[in-house]
Amino acid sequence: MFQPLVLRDVPSEIQEDCAESQQFQSQEIQQQIYNLLSINSTIVIRQFPSQGLSFQLWPAATTLVTLLDRHHPRITTPLSAVFNGSGATQHRPIRILELGSGTGVVGIAAAAILGGNVTVTDLPHVLPNILFNVNANAEMLKHHGGAVEVAALSWGDTHNMEAIGREIDLIMGSDLVYHDHLYEPLLETLKFFLSRSEKRIVFLMAHEKRWKKESAFFKKAKKSFDVEIIHNDEPSNGSRVGVVVYQFVGKFGAKLKPEIGRPLTMYEFEPSLILPNMVFNY
Ligand SMILES: C[S@@+](CC[C@H](N)C(=O)[O-])C[C@H]1O[C@@H](n2cnc3c(N)ncnc32)[C@H](O)[C@@H]1O
Repeated sequence: MFQPLVLRDVPSEIQEDCAESQQFQSQEIQQQIYNLLSINSTIVIRQFPSQGLSFQLWPAATTLVTLLDRHHPRITTPLSAVFNGSGATQHRPIRILELGSGTGVVGIAAAAILGGNVTVTDLPHVLPNILFNVNANAEMLKHHGGAVEVAALSWGDTHNMEAIGREIDLIMGSDLVYHDHLYEPLLETLKFFLSRSEKRIVFLMAHEKRWKKESAFFKKAKKSFDVEIIHNDEPSNGSRVGVVVYQFVGKFGAKLKPEIGRPLTMYEFEPSLILPNMVFNY
C-alpha cells in the first residue's frame, strides 16, 4: 500500500534550505538512471556533484542497488540470510531504515524491489534533494507497493533516533565510513538500533575502502557487533579494492525493551512547499 510521503522531525532550517534551493538551478545537475531488471522498472536520480558528497552517487550505493536487484526469494544470494532473518513476512512489508542516504537511491530501490516501507535519512540540508528523488519515482514506487518516508537523522542525535523508533527489520547504508570524527556518532547510532532492540536487527553496509585509518572504525565496531563480509565487488576504475558489503549484528542484543509506537509526523510532505523552484533541467 503506497502511503503519502512524509518529512519527519525536520527543524525550521529546512525552510531556508528550500528557499536556497533555487541556487541549485544554476548549478550542474546530473541525472542517473538505474534499470532494475528484477522488477522491470527504472529509477531516476538527480544529483548535484558540485554541492558536495551528500549530493552525488557513490559506487557503494550502486553495489547495494545491484545486490537488491539480483536478490530472489527462492535463490541463494548474498542477501538471502539477511532477509530470511529479518522478521518480515508475506503479510507484513519489510521495514528498512537507511542511514546517510545521500541521493536516496538505495532506499528507493529497496522500497520498490522488496515492496517495503523504507525510511531514508540524512542531515537536514540533504533532505530536499532526497525528497525530490523520492517524488520523481513516486509512480514507480506506487506500482510496486513500496513506501518511502524521509526523515532527519544526524548520527548520535538521541532526539532524531527516538523519533525514528525501533520498529525496524533491517538497516542499510552505503559509503558512510570516511571522516574519522564520524566513526563514534555512527557507532552510537548503530548501538541504539541494533544493540538495544529485543530482536536481531542487521545493519547492511557497503563500503569502499579509501584510507588505512578506516580500519579503526571496524576495530571499534567489532567490540559491539559481529561483523561479517557477505559480498565483495571486483576492483574497478583502477582502484586496488572493490566495494565490500558487511553485515553487522549486535553482540549483546535484547538489553532494553524497544520503543512502542511510531513518532509523530511533523507535517505532511507538500511538494510545492519543499522544492518550489526545482524542475528537471538537464
Ligand atoms: C559519501 S556520502 C554517501 C551517500 C550515499 N549513501 C551513497 O552511497 O551514495 C555520505 C553520506 O553520509 C551523510 N552523513 C555524513 N555525516 C552524517 C551525520 N553526522 N549524520 C547523518 N548523516 C551523515 C552525508 O550527508 C552523506 O549523504
